[in-house]
Amino acid sequence: MNVLLGISGGIAAYKTPELVRRLRERGAEVQIVMTSSAEEFVTETALQAVSGRPIRSNLWDKEAEAAMSHIELARWADVLLIAPATAEIMARLASGAASDLLTTICLATRAPIAIAPAMNHVMWANPAVQKNRETLAERGIHILGPDSGSQACGETGEGRMLDPDEIAAIVSGLQVDAGATALLACKTVLITAGPTREPIDPVRFITNRSSGKMGYAIAAAAQQQGAQVVLISGPVAITAPRGVIVHEVQTAQEMYDTTHVHIRNADIFIATAAVADYRPVAVAAHKIKKNEQSMSIELVRTPDILTSVAALESGPFTVGFAAETENLREYALGKLRRKNLDMIVANLVGAGCGFDRDDNAVEVFWQGGEQAFATDSKVELARRIVKLVAERCAIT
Ligand code: CTP
Repeated sequence: MNVLLGISGGIAAYKTPELVRRLRERGAEVQIVMTSSAEEFVTETALQAVSGRPIRSNLWDKEAEAAMSHIELARWADVLLIAPATAEIMARLASGAASDLLTTICLATRAPIAIAPAMNHVMWANPAVQKNRETLAERGIHILGPDSGSQACGETGEGRMLDPDEIAAIVSGLQVDAGATALLACKTVLITAGPTREPIDPVRFITNRSSGKMGYAIAAAAQQQGAQVVLISGPVAITAPRGVIVHEVQTAQEMYDTTHVHIRNADIFIATAAVADYRPVAVAAHKIKKNEQSMSIELVRTPDILTSVAALESGPFTVGFAAETENLREYALGKLRRKNLDMIVANLVGAGCGFDRDDNAVEVFWQGGEQAFATDSKVELARRIVKLVAERCAIT
């Protein structure tokens, strides 16, 4: 794959030699185009050494243009990635400017474009930047991240560039043919999956039998439909598809917190996780000894992630899962209404069906409609569910 890597002028540019190496390890050829301000943060020499190709930065460099013009560069790229993407480059892309080599190539390419924003968290939250993010996402530009955490400016918040490894994984997974028939092109899908673990003491916890297989299959299906997929996963024994961003969590509270860090960028939220409804009130600091003949553990409710997302103002299209042992239809419709969901996928669990198996049968309900999918592999069911979600999401 030919990756044209645009580097704009933010402090996260110091991570780009690492990003180039990660991309090349995945077999990509990397051609770098820097903006003039990027040169303040990372040297051409370092980038040339790791990419093995001369760096381009000037639209008016006659010699370089004669060797490979900006139009040829735009055609050469299978994917155009801008990392880090500053507020400035996002604004220029949103306005359609062609004021330098990188923005000109962005206008001239037919390749999918992905950007990895990186900036101070207050800048990222600024309505002007968010408007530009929306504009770019609507045009089909993949927005990778940003991540949350401590920032170069000493503050903490959302605005860190995604880890180079994650960016490389996503870029490798991008469809080379911008996904003309992909139902979820330019959509971001946030998925919770797997069980949660609620600690009792340092060696014990409360959990359930969820394997995460359904959620991971949904993640793969959404990615195949061209979506950028973020998976927030409890402890499972399976690996996520390449290109999916995974955030590993343990407890319901961690799953809730991580969901709310990423929900603003999501167009669709699919809650497949089997979240523990209760957790121990107190976690013992040391292993609990068996002294008495009986003991009890006081439990308290965990936050309901799905309900909290469905209650967000202008939140994403929200899909819940209901695992029931009886009265499937009645309970599922009750949850659809009570949790104010756009859709609910219900399945029977118990002896011989549901948890920790490779197949399943589901019934899907939404306001004024329903569809049943007979027993099939979770992979095939996930494809059908994702297709249905994409269709309903496009209508509502
Ligand atoms: N869910 C969630 N957060 C929780 C509990 C559940 O996001 N703390 C989500 C699950 O991921 C699933 C849906 O809610 O998509 C259904 O969960 P369930 O626990 O079955 O629903 P309840 O309304 O709690 O019903 P009940 O416990 O009575 O079955």
